[in-house]
Amino acid sequence: MADVSADVTARSEALAERLFQATLSTWDIATVYLGHRLGLYRALSDVEPAISKELATATGLTERYVREWLEQQTVAGILECENPDAGALERRFAIPAGHAAVLVDSDDPSFLAPLAQITMGALAPMEALLSAFRTGAGVPYADYGLDLRTGQAEMNRNLFLQQLGSEYLPAIPALHARLLADPPARVADIGCGVGWSCIGIAQAYPNVRVDGFDLDAASVAEAQDVVRATGLSDRVEVHLRDASDPALAGHYDLVTAFECVHDMSDPVGALRTMRRLAAGDGTVLVMDERVADAFDPEAGDVERFMYGFSVLHCLPVGLEDQPSAATGTVMRADTLRGYATVAGFGAVDVLALEHPFFRFYRLLG
Ligand SMILES: C[S@@+](CC[C@H](N)C(=O)[O-])C[C@H]1O[C@@H](n2cnc3c(N)ncnc32)[C@H](O)[C@@H]1O
Repeated sequence: MADVSADVTARSEALAERLFQATLSTWDIATVYLGHRLGLYRALSDVEPAISKELATATGLTERYVREWLEQQTVAGILECENPDAGALERRFAIPAGHAAVLVDSDDPSFLAPLAQITMGALAPMEALLSAFRTGAGVPYADYGLDLRTGQAEMNRNLFLQQLGSEYLPAIPALHARLLADPPARVADIGCGVGWSCIGIAQAYPNVRVDGFDLDAASVAEAQDVVRATGLSDRVEVHLRDASDPALAGHYDLVTAFECVHDMSDPVGALRTMRRLAAGDGTVLVMDERVADAFDPEAGDVERFMYGFSVLHCLPVGLEDQPSAATGTVMRADTLRGYATVAGFGAVDVLALEHPFFRFYRLLG
């Protein structure tokens, strides 16, 4: 007979080891966050190899903190030290080959420093989340602050600026042709956040006019700055509006919702708006998380990643306004189909587009 107690002990040891490793990973995320927010990686890439005093001067930060961070980053294998045996103030640190793409180069497809920022943002309103679990109330999106908002925007920025207009929208040839044609096509972008999707579409299609809509005031203000900074104010406008507002009107050739339907307390109301805005021959596109089709304990890392964000951020945000559909990050294809049917759509097609984290849906009818 198998030794049951030995098996249980082995499982306890494995979980304990896993939690220890997870703590190390948590320190990685938190200290990459510091490096990103404080401009340490960017400055180091300019002055490397650098001693702590040089990096402190370049960033305007305090040498003792910078030195501890440099040593921690080196022990963690994120940075490297070229003379570890030198005195503490003489050690020179640098970014190893390949790491700058992930930590510094914001246009590189591997740039992932914003993942640390969005993760720290998701953890920010922890007291409010504890209370929400007890009361069933939500946690306002605004409570997640700049880190969630900016981390989210930066995570999707390259997709919107580099792939949306060159790969994803051209995958629907009639839509692609309409966006290039005259009279200028109109695009409504629901839940646009900081607005990079509006910018990506406007840059890819030099005729189109884009209206972005979001109900988070800080996101809209930041999006308006982004529009001005990119010189697109004549073709892109971002409005502070609730997508489920039945008064939201207009006629658009393309209506999009990128990674936001699962956050909405009233996704059916928002989809009704999208259907109304696209009335006639407009295209309705939803990009949302690539999750399994049904609950599956073995679904893997992407599902695990999505569930983490769901517990900490998307579900509490969606529960803020009541009544709420209480969707959470793990919005399955059939859940979206159910919402779309109630909103009046006849069908939902999953587009054959490859992305490790996202699925693209076209809502028809
Ligand atoms: C996860 S963020 C996605 C932002 C952006 N689309 C992107 O992909 O980076 C979700 C956005 O949906 C917005 N949102 C949630 N409910 C909304 C609603 N009812 N109307 C308009 N915007 C909404 C939030 O304010 C937030 O900016």
